[in-house]
Amino acid sequence: MLTDSSTAAARAADRAHVFHSWSAQGHIDPMPVAGGSGSTFWDYEGNHYLDFSSQFVNLNIGHGHPRVVEAICRQARKLCTVAPHFANDQRSEAAWLIAQHAPGDLDKVFFTNGGTESNEHAVRMARLVTGRPKILTGYRSYHGSTHTAMHLTGDPRRWPSDTGTAGAVHFFGPYPYRSAFHAESEAQECERALEHLEQVITLEGPQTVAAVLLEPVVGTNGLLVPPAGYLRGVREICDRYGILLIADEVMTGFGRTGRWFAVDHWDVVPDLITFAKGVNSGYVPLGGVILSERVAARFHDTPYPGGLTYSGHPLACAAAVATMHAMRDEGIVEHAAWLGEHVIGPGLRKIGEAHPSVGDVRGLGVFWALELVRDRRTREMLVPFAATGAQAAPMAELAADCRRRGLWPFTHFNRLHVLPPCNVSAEDARRGLEIIDEALDVADRYAAE
Ligand SMILES: Cc1ncc(COP(=O)(O)O)c(C=O)c1O
Repeated sequence: MLTDSSTAAARAADRAHVFHSWSAQGHIDPMPVAGGSGSTFWDYEGNHYLDFSSQFVNLNIGHGHPRVVEAICRQARKLCTVAPHFANDQRSEAAWLIAQHAPGDLDKVFFTNGGTESNEHAVRMARLVTGRPKILTGYRSYHGSTHTAMHLTGDPRRWPSDTGTAGAVHFFGPYPYRSAFHAESEAQECERALEHLEQVITLEGPQTVAAVLLEPVVGTNGLLVPPAGYLRGVREICDRYGILLIADEVMTGFGRTGRWFAVDHWDVVPDLITFAKGVNSGYVPLGGVILSERVAARFHDTPYPGGLTYSGHPLACAAAVATMHAMRDEGIVEHAAWLGEHVIGPGLRKIGEAHPSVGDVRGLGVFWALELVRDRRTREMLVPFAATGAQAAPMAELAADCRRRGLWPFTHFNRLHVLPPCNVSAEDARRGLEIIDEALDVADRYAAE
């Protein structure tokens, strides 16, 4: 029964004992969610929201996909859990399917419980393979929230935990709209970003660098699609210095960019891929590392020094198997690419032309962002970098307006990201864009004509 009292009870129960991530506990009021189906979820008062954030950019297949739900139930009836040192059919099939979709010789899968753990383990593997300590990652990146993963992260979430003790070194990746290299074209940005990376490696000492770890398309920190040639260039630099390339596909993997993996857009084969989120839409927590032959071979005769009680959990793996089958049978990855090309991309560009607050539109598949500015000429951000409180008000008002109109948005700093499930219908995608178009009037009030 959907009633106001259910909402009040759910709110009170949450506030009583739940400690939430990333938050000052006394300043939050999490909305209780009563249910979800496909691209929509709803509260206890019957308000429905079109999910344009795919929860935490993990819900690639939408809420309550019947095949995935059924697979979890079937597995639960058969075997809810099994220790990682046993073999399990769902785990083996999930690994086989992931290897089928992974590029090049990436053929073995180490399962974890999420993206953070995947990066922790990929970095450990790279250090053991190369015997080198340092990991290079981009400013404007997110790689997770445990000790190493937090230090790898190149955004303000790292600052409170940064002890400088994890061997992470940061560099600038390409960002044509706000070029760190004063570039005037994508080609120039690409060339200069690669020169910069090579200089960082030279000055750090190549013999001290185990891996370059990057998001092939930077997610939360900007939806930064790299210029053509950038990832290939990074691959070549890594090869020149015996450095491993780790692609963090936690957000981009499993259809989000219109390909199974984002690196496929540029035919680049990393040494390691980390994944989580879309592998089973987060119905049951799952992540992992996909290892190339060379990395896997290092641990053929020498034990890999790491493990997790729930590595390859059968419920999570059953959900992954069903997700990948459904994605393939329903053409979900192709649909995401089509939406990006024919609905979301053109729709957002049209919206961008109509609103003075939109400085830049960029993305791929169902992975897009509007970068909002006060002045298109100067590109002054609508709210400052890492703004909070009153400084962030324009973005908070925009988000509230989207919610009031029935769309759940994803905002970060001065950007509105557009991240519906990969199988959102064209009709719902268009409806979401209409809502964004209307809500942007709120941002326009702060922008110069
Ligand atoms: C690119 C990237 N890497 C790693 C992570 C961490 O994943 P998790 O929150 O599952 O630990 C995230 C989470 O958003 C991410 O976007």
